[in-house]
Amino acid sequence: MHKNLLSRKAACDSHGQDSSYFLGWEEYEKNPYDPNTNTSGIIQMGLAENQLSFDLIESWLESHPNLAGFKRDGTASIFRELALFQDYRGFPAFKKYHTLRSFYHNSDRFDRDLKWRTGVEIVPIQCSSSNGFEITKAALEEAYGRAKKLHLGVKGVLITNPSNPLGTSTTRHELDTLLDFVVARDIHLVSDEIYSGTSFGSPGFISVAEAMIGRGNVSHRVHIVNSLSKDLGLPGFRVGAIYSRNDYVVAAATKMSSFGMISSHTQYLLSELLSDKEFMRKYTEENKRRLKERHRQLVKGLQTAGVGCLRSNAGLYCWADMRHLLESKTFEGERELWKKMLYEVGLNISPGSSCHCNEPGWFRVCFANISVDTLNVAIRRLKTFVDSCLCSQDSGRLLRGLPLCPSRKRRIPLPPHESSVGSCNGHLEICAGG
Ligand SMILES: Cc1ncc(COP(=O)(O)O)c(C=O)c1O
Repeated sequence: MHKNLLSRKAACDSHGQDSSYFLGWEEYEKNPYDPNTNTSGIIQMGLAENQLSFDLIESWLESHPNLAGFKRDGTASIFRELALFQDYRGFPAFKKYHTLRSFYHNSDRFDRDLKWRTGVEIVPIQCSSSNGFEITKAALEEAYGRAKKLHLGVKGVLITNPSNPLGTSTTRHELDTLLDFVVARDIHLVSDEIYSGTSFGSPGFISVAEAMIGRGNVSHRVHIVNSLSKDLGLPGFRVGAIYSRNDYVVAAATKMSSFGMISSHTQYLLSELLSDKEFMRKYTEENKRRLKERHRQLVKGLQTAGVGCLRSNAGLYCWADMRHLLESKTFEGERELWKKMLYEVGLNISPGSSCHCNEPGWFRVCFANISVDTLNVAIRRLKTFVDSCLCSQDSGRLLRGLPLCPSRKRRIPLPPHESSVGSCNGHLEICAGG
């Protein structure tokens, strides 16, 4: 009503809050599934949260009661020290164990973070599964050209490695291609490695920091962001980090962090946790083992329901191919399917369009924020839905005298890597100043 009293930034819609991604969350919150009290509710599979290893951190906390009680070495109170601490550069012990150069309060999603808050334009880079969604020089150049046609000054490339939503880690070859590209174009590379600790399969995760070794000309233009939200499953603690060798970037980030410093108590607690090397080693190993097992359960479940997905080795989700369930191979068709999934099947999954995928029919399905029993309920619901969908597709085809569609004849889909045709751009983007 009083929108005209607001600044352009406050009033503009680029935040993405009304995208299907967030609408799905809202619907879930109105009617959440509960195995005891609301068995017909919506199952939340649109949330990339890691709830598989809380017990490990909880037992560590139980054996370290002093930390929550503001005590050091058993007796000395550190309440006053923490109450007064407000250094933008962060808690020294925390920096030491996390090797941080600067802290920031991390927040969700590129559209929301980058477009709305900073006003930057994001130009998606179209990758094709015809080559396994590889990041190619041609795809980078094409996106760069598109940005230029829009009269945007390209500032850098942003990737998520491992990818969200694909669940795949960036290969060494792709990292080399990216580094060559940013050097040639004289721009930055920002690598969001928030899912690095979720890499549970082969090939293993390679950080851009590793790919930079031996290249003298890149360190000032490559920046890594990370947070404790995914590996440790602590999004509520709001802890993130920027790693950069560019002093100007670090200085700017340090200034920015005054608007979102991490509470000193949180820094104190986490510096103790992260410095417990033996615990962290065991935690990482066990967490990856659990993620791998849960991923296997989801992939198998999807297959029994007649849904293939891209072969993946990391992340908290699978990239599921539901193109055969679309009534029309358009984004309208994808939205219709998403609505059916949400309101009829009771599953909140994220449509590819909400991740800027340019091919309708792909959905991100999260697996680490729900119990295995809930996952099984979700798979049963999905299977019933897919069966009914394919039946009605068949009857439609029979009525029109057409042969049955291949997906109906072959109920078990192709192995994940074979079913991944199409293209998706959700995992890397070019950032450009408008
Ligand atoms: C690729 C990526 N980066 C950053 C974030 C933000 O995480 P947080 O703000 O919880 O640290 C997310 C959250 O889903 C993400 O998927």
